[in-house]
Amino acid sequence: MTDTRSRAVDTLSKAEAETELADLAKVLAAANAAYHTEDAPELSDAEYDKLKRRNTAIELRFPQLKRVDSPSDQVGGPLAEGFGKITHEVRMLSLGNAFDDEDVEEFDTRIRKYLGLGQDDPLEYTAEPKIDGLSLSLRYEDGALVYAATRGDGETGENVTANARMISSIPEKLKDAPDLLEIRGEVYMSHADFAALNKRQESIGAKVFANPRNAAAGSLRQLDANITKSRPLEFFAYAWGALSVPLAETQMEAIDRLKELGFSTNPLTKRCVGPSALIEHYKGIEAQRATLGYDIDGVVYKVDDLALQARLGFRSTTPRWAIAHKFAAELAWTRLDAIEIQVGRTGALSPVARLQPVTVGGVVVSNATLHNEDYIAGRDAKGQPIRDGKDIREGDWVQVYRAGDVIPKIADVDLSKRPESAEPYVFPTHCPKCSSDAVREEGDAVRRCTGGLICPAQAVEKLKHFVSRGAFDIEGLGAKQIEAFYHDDILPINEPADIFTLRERDALQLSKLKTRDGWGEKSAGNLFDAIDEKRRIPMNRLIFALGLRHVGDSASNLLANHYVSWSSFEHAMNEANLRQGAAWDELISIDGVGTVMAGSVVDAFAQPQERAAIDRLVAQLDVQDMPRRDTSSSPVADKTLVFSGTLEKMTRAEAKARAEALGAKVSGSVSAKTDLLIAGPGAGSKAKKAADLGVETIDEDGWLFLIGGLG
Ligand code: IVH
Repeated sequence: MTDTRSRAVDTLSKAEAETELADLAKVLAAANAAYHTEDAPELSDAEYDKLKRRNTAIELRFPQLKRVDSPSDQVGGPLAEGFGKITHEVRMLSLGNAFDDEDVEEFDTRIRKYLGLGQDDPLEYTAEPKIDGLSLSLRYEDGALVYAATRGDGETGENVTANARMISSIPEKLKDAPDLLEIRGEVYMSHADFAALNKRQESIGAKVFANPRNAAAGSLRQLDANITKSRPLEFFAYAWGALSVPLAETQMEAIDRLKELGFSTNPLTKRCVGPSALIEHYKGIEAQRATLGYDIDGVVYKVDDLALQARLGFRSTTPRWAIAHKFAAELAWTRLDAIEIQVGRTGALSPVARLQPVTVGGVVVSNATLHNEDYIAGRDAKGQPIRDGKDIREGDWVQVYRAGDVIPKIADVDLSKRPESAEPYVFPTHCPKCSSDAVREEGDAVRRCTGGLICPAQAVEKLKHFVSRGAFDIEGLGAKQIEAFYHDDILPINEPADIFTLRERDALQLSKLKTRDGWGEKSAGNLFDAIDEKRRIPMNRLIFALGLRHVGDSASNLLANHYVSWSSFEHAMNEANLRQGAAWDELISIDGVGTVMAGSVVDAFAQPQERAAIDRLVAQLDVQDMPRRDTSSSPVADKTLVFSGTLEKMTRAEAKARAEALGAKVSGSVSAKTDLLIAGPGAGSKAKKAADLGVETIDEDGWLFLIGGLG
């Protein structure tokens, strides 16, 4: 305690105030450290607050004496305005880059030339991983951490002292340290901690981070240091700024000294003679990249002799004595731990590669698609070799890439690293979820589970689709809730109809939804109301929600617009069940509906269990007809037309669409029901049949005249 502390602030001289502020900074910093990092408070809250208030009062009287490490700028202080600024005593620089071996050789040649060394004179370097985090400068005075600053623009950074004190690998005190020592290094987050943090964030609905670097930056730059405390950050020391005495004579010895002082230094730091040794170490580090457990984006080479570093000096923003040899972007090698099969809503068995997490283009990747069994075997859809015919096996060393924002894929396999025990992957012929046969139809690249609704994977995926955005989009009932309700003991949702009986079934239960974890009176009531709101549903959305194979959003619209009402759609599907006859012909005559899609819809309606589930659902709903187009002035409304021969002014597809828009039905063949044949050149047999049946026939110009021209 200084003897001025008991005196009134307005009796202090400037010199006394300066001394007391320095003292208060130390005492409060120590108290903070004891409180936050050692969980062993030295001061009572009241004493702490009193000292803090005194510090603020002195600063108010002598604003020019406010310290860069002022306790007012730290935890509990007025942090809301953002971080204070700190001007670095020695600038924090960035590094030049090398992208290939040639760049590394040129780096060596440039240095030799600058120093006047011959090509054969020995020149030592250090090579160490380039950590993909954010750089931090730590200032120690008399062995005590005074402040921590981010790099900022290199000249001035942000004061993140309170936050840095929360990082366990940043020592608060150093033994036998120079009076002044600025340590520089990288703050980062390990892959494991990153994954756990994101999981936690997701579970509380908070922001998830794209990669460990962002997570580290977001965690360090928190105005509330308690948040930083809850985020596991680490620190590697690799450089220094201002110093009262030199640390060592070489880079390598300096790193050893940092280690002795209590910092973590990277164990892969190695002394290398000449560029070929650097490149060799680079390759070694690259090979370990996926298994390090933290992100690195290259290898940093530094001239080892500190006297030579001093001679080489700096260009405007980068040192001449160091360079970062970067890894190629967007591609990374890692180990494929396992191949897993996911079952989708249409029963497709999709193989997924589970990988040792690796960062590819700034995102941690732990899964990649393997497409289908041919892809794993090294063949394309036509049986031609891909990846030179190399297959993919569990345990393989694989190259992962990301193209844009899509799901990561596997580009290549390194056969030289294949474990001897690795066996060719045998694609399952039974569904891994329900054991039903998984069959691959002729011409289909995908093998599918034949279990239909008895397959839990298909059922859950179908339900998720059912409640998704373009479908029923029920507020409060998303994929997560579907997983929870599926096969629930008390209130199961096993098929879409169950959603609409939820309120009713809940009312009959003793243990009600509102009493469950995560639910309350209000949220349960809101869910039931949100469900009721969607009972009234437009027909096109209902068709889409059924999740039939090949029937997406636009096909659903085509079907709904063609049949207009659910009852006529259902009736038509019943009639078309044998994939032949007038109803089938009508279905496949809809522009945009092919036989594959039509077959999928008809089969779903003909399959007894699936049909029963659809009927149970529809019984709960009020399906809205599609709005009828106003065809009152249309000359072809409700007429059945047939196009034949070549049309010259519009495509067949356009002619059909125009006719349908005007309320006509377009058929593929002439019959007694045909009202009008539009015959272009080459109409042949259809024209003859029309003539025989007395069906009115016009040419393309007549058609255009009838519909009021092209536009
Ligand atoms: S040395 C004067 N060594 O990379 C040179 N930097 O792109 C000081 N970095 O701002 C930097 N790992 O944030 C050095 N082993 C390492 C590094 C490293 C990561 C970062 C550092 C620097 C950036 C330059």
